[in-house]
Amino acid sequence: MDNKKSDRPAVLGGAPVFIQTVQEPQFPKLDKWKQMTEEEAQVAYDMTLRNELSGGTPVVREFERQWREMIGTKYAITVMNGTASLFSAYFGLGVGPGDEVICPTYTWICTIAPAIILGAKPVFCESDPESAMVDPADIRKRITSKTSAIVVVHLWGNVCDMDPIMEISKETGIPVIEDCSHAHGAMYKGRPCGSIGHVGCWSLQGSKPVSAGEGGVIATNDTEVFERACLIGQVNRIMGMDLVTEKYAKYQPLGTGMKFRANPVGIGIAQVQLRKLKELNDRRRKYIEEVEDGLEDIPGVKRIKVYDGAVRGGFYGFPIIHIPEENNGLSTQEFVNALQKEGLPAHLSGYPLLHRLPIFAEGFDLFTKNRGPLCGDYQGYKEGDFPKTEEMIKHLVFLPVLSDPVPEASELVLEAIRKVAYNASELVQQQA
Ligand SMILES: Cc1ncc(COP(=O)(O)O)c(C=O)c1O
Repeated sequence: MDNKKSDRPAVLGGAPVFIQTVQEPQFPKLDKWKQMTEEEAQVAYDMTLRNELSGGTPVVREFERQWREMIGTKYAITVMNGTASLFSAYFGLGVGPGDEVICPTYTWICTIAPAIILGAKPVFCESDPESAMVDPADIRKRITSKTSAIVVVHLWGNVCDMDPIMEISKETGIPVIEDCSHAHGAMYKGRPCGSIGHVGCWSLQGSKPVSAGEGGVIATNDTEVFERACLIGQVNRIMGMDLVTEKYAKYQPLGTGMKFRANPVGIGIAQVQLRKLKELNDRRRKYIEEVEDGLEDIPGVKRIKVYDGAVRGGFYGFPIIHIPEENNGLSTQEFVNALQKEGLPAHLSGYPLLHRLPIFAEGFDLFTKNRGPLCGDYQGYKEGDFPKTEEMIKHLVFLPVLSDPVPEASELVLEAIRKVAYNASELVQQQA
């Protein structure tokens, strides 16, 4: 299909539907970063010649060990992508038909999709407009006797307010999945994100801070979750699948016969990327904080909130908040257009709110013959159901994430923002 901008669904804000891997520095005037180097290529070359191409190979086992060490969990398993890691997590927790899963409406669809394929109903909730992270108070309101999991997302590398979320979990016994696909290396009150809830999930897709090209990881301290995750996705992976209890031993090595195993070459590449993660995060953090500090003196823009004790990581996106009232009523769309005219590749949020997608708004006959969690008594969603998040998304502006910025990069970004903010009244007149 020709994926011209005009053909792209408006619901995605004109953003590309399929995110390809970034081949060259994305913003060559500002950034010298190259995600893949000779080092990754050499690993792929060597592994191919060794025919280390399938199953739980030594590289896969070592990467999983490193991941356990980084996250501090007892278990970590690699899978073919982040979606499969979430599928393994939901299956691990026993999410199934008749259950409900609470999920922010502001996230990527894969956060919730596997729960639905397992037969559970999505129950969306609001985000905190100051941080763009899920709103714990709103999670609480949506709990019913059918809630079997809460999934939270450390979106764009920011960190959810985990204390109140885990308080709800403790009170109700409902397990929490942390989707860390945007936040590799992020921390909350001294603990790695992905180790605070019951299960952590990561995407290692090509544009992620740790890339396997395509890949994912699931980490947990919960033996039952680990063993069930092995059953659902690790068919015939004998090496390294050391089930701890006897409960499921007789089903190994075939498990349920489903296969989500990672390609070892991708994991070899991700292993090199993991070594660079700290440096990548330090570089991104320095640039992002320089720009955020500079925003303090510019009318109409502010940094997103970071909760007490949170240390961002991954930095998959760089959102700031635009306040039209402080820019003479300049709309956020016009603000972004003006930034682009200044040469700054800014954009509105490319993620649609999930409750607006036809599949969730109207429902969908998932398993045909009027079966599945999105039909029958499924109520659907409508505009206005999530007023805080609907308002929030209108005013999020994304600035480029730079990993190896040229020295003047943050100043160039700030200069463009200043110019537009100080010309706001003129721009509003031109609009009129
Ligand atoms: C928040 C979030 N969760 C899950 C996923 C799914 O990961 P993958 O594309 O590796 O399946 C993504 C992918 O971008 C994501 O952004």
